[in-house]
Amino acid sequence: MSAWKKHQIFEKNSLILIVGIVIMISIGGLVEIVPLYYLKSTIEKTEGMRPYTPLELAGRNIYVREGCYACHSQQIRPMRDELERYGNYSLAAESMYDRPFQWGSKRTGPDLARVGGKYSDEWQRDHLIDPRSVSPTSVMPGYPFLMDAKISPIEIENHLKVNALYGVPYTEEQIKYAKADLMAQAQPDSDAAEGFAERYPDVLIRDFDGNAKEVTEMDALVAYLQMLGTLVDFSLYDEKANLR
Ligand code: HEC
Repeated sequence: MSAWKKHQIFEKNSLILIVGIVIMISIGGLVEIVPLYYLKSTIEKTEGMRPYTPLELAGRNIYVREGCYACHSQQIRPMRDELERYGNYSLAAESMYDRPFQWGSKRTGPDLARVGGKYSDEWQRDHLIDPRSVSPTSVMPGYPFLMDAKISPIEIENHLKVNALYGVPYTEEQIKYAKADLMAQAQPDSDAAEGFAERYPDVLIRDFDGNAKEVTEMDALVAYLQMLGTLVDFSLYDEKANLR
């Protein structure tokens, strides 16, 4: 029986054809899915990544609450125009502590994955209060109420706990002092600032919203924006690429 004749078995009997299709698709599926279970991690280890500080996490929650993702993505794609405008394309590791991730799918405004350090705190604050004051043709809405909304420390410990539950490596101490740390990052002169700096080395500690008396939601959101894309040192990556 030639190969052609053998194949007729499938072509003449739909049930056998279906069984054949199922077997073929299963093999393809297993090859793709099984490795995900035994690979320890599908995200390459990247130096510099650390969990969010309580203030940054609170800022991130405000970002999600206000729906900033509806106009802003946080994912630089590996295409030339994007690389020239925003820098290195986003690595999977950069959103490894993001639950939920904020990659977004809509860009009414620019991508924010690398916005940290691009502007001063004052610019970020003025822009959030009234975008037209610094960017005259902007269609972004203002969020002036963030200046008046005192940050609420009540929930922050639980936010850290839940993140830890999902594998974000917060230490017990970081969870225990979450409330104090939330306030300390925006109050550099407070007693708690020292302990905070020990628990989170190399983190910006300053009054982000220009109002030293209170820690507001503006402090939190600006702290979050100012660290976006600043953790991984991409000059190392560029050097490596040049060496090759
Ligand atoms: C209706 C769409 C829209 C929403 C919602 C929105 N933005 Fe924007 N955003 C824009 C546009 C358009 C620009 C570009 C013009 C400008 O600078 O204001 C922008 C610019 C920015 C910039 C400056 C980026 C850069 O690289 O120049 C930041 C930072 C920013 N937005 C943060 C936020 C945050 C935080 C929120 C949520 C609190 C938010 N945006 C919500 C549309 C939006």
